[in-house]
Amino acid sequence: MFDRFNRKLNYLRISVTDRCNLRCTYCMPEEGIKLFRHEDILSFDEIAGFTKVAVANGVTKVRLTGGEPLVRKGVTTLVRMISDIKGIDDLSMTTNGTLLKQYAKELRNSGLHRVNISLDTVDPEKFKAVTRLGNINDVFEGINAAKSAGLYPIKINCVIKESKDEEEAKAVTRFCKENDLEIRYIHQMDLVMGHFSVVDGGTGGNCSLCNRLRLTSNGKLKPCLFSNIEFDIRDFGFEEAIKRAAELKPRCGSKNETGAFYNIGG
Ligand code: 5AD
Ligand code: SF4
Repeated sequence: MFDRFNRKLNYLRISVTDRCNLRCTYCMPEEGIKLFRHEDILSFDEIAGFTKVAVANGVTKVRLTGGEPLVRKGVTTLVRMISDIKGIDDLSMTTNGTLLKQYAKELRNSGLHRVNISLDTVDPEKFKAVTRLGNINDVFEGINAAKSAGLYPIKINCVIKESKDEEEAKAVTRFCKENDLEIRYIHQMDLVMGHFSVVDGGTGGNCSLCNRLRLTSNGKLKPCLFSNIEFDIRDFGFEEAIKRAAELKPRCGSKNETGAFYNIGG
């Protein structure tokens, strides 16, 4: 499927929950967030059913995100349901890594290809400060579990303030080199202010090349992270929501006052 600007839309990012077991300072307030109501959260059947229709419309690449996707109960069942859909050649997950030790093998066995793991620092104290609740050893163990399970290539998402030359980022870069991990640097963004930029080492943030549609855990299909435009897949129906999102995908991002990283998944 193509949009008005002849961009081929083949990448669907699915936020499976707005919950997270961490509280990264740039993502969530300390006290947490007002969570979606349970009845508004899409069921696995709805997510898989929608994905099937998206694949029939040309999606070949699917990523599961959150919040933290691994806090959703039974998420490996959803991974299996999605990996059973014919036509997906890249099935990945963005995770904070803290629960991978427990889930990596099962994710792999359920058909997940690979993971992106968020890591902004390799210093235990600073990790605690950024995530408020996290223990960095869980992430290190998670990375090892992902390796043992063969969830390759493993990519590290490193949020930076200004540049990849700042101390924290440089240490993460070294860690990645030593541990056979790819790194991408993500500038800290602000959806409401409309501050975004390209992801160094990745494909995000470049409007002219954007191939993405995003589905939130409460069923809103968003054609752009930096826009208020969204279509409720329950109201419009799967096919019509996809058609409209593709038609109205803006040429370039601006601002988003309707969502946040923890419920759109970045
Ligand atoms: N700016 C940039 N990236 C963010 N993420 C969360 N909040 C922000 C923000 N304000 C990223 C995390 C993680 C992914 C889920 O979204 O670093 O990699
Ligand atoms: Fe959770 Fe990721 Fe947000 Fe951190 S950035 S609070 S790990 S969703």
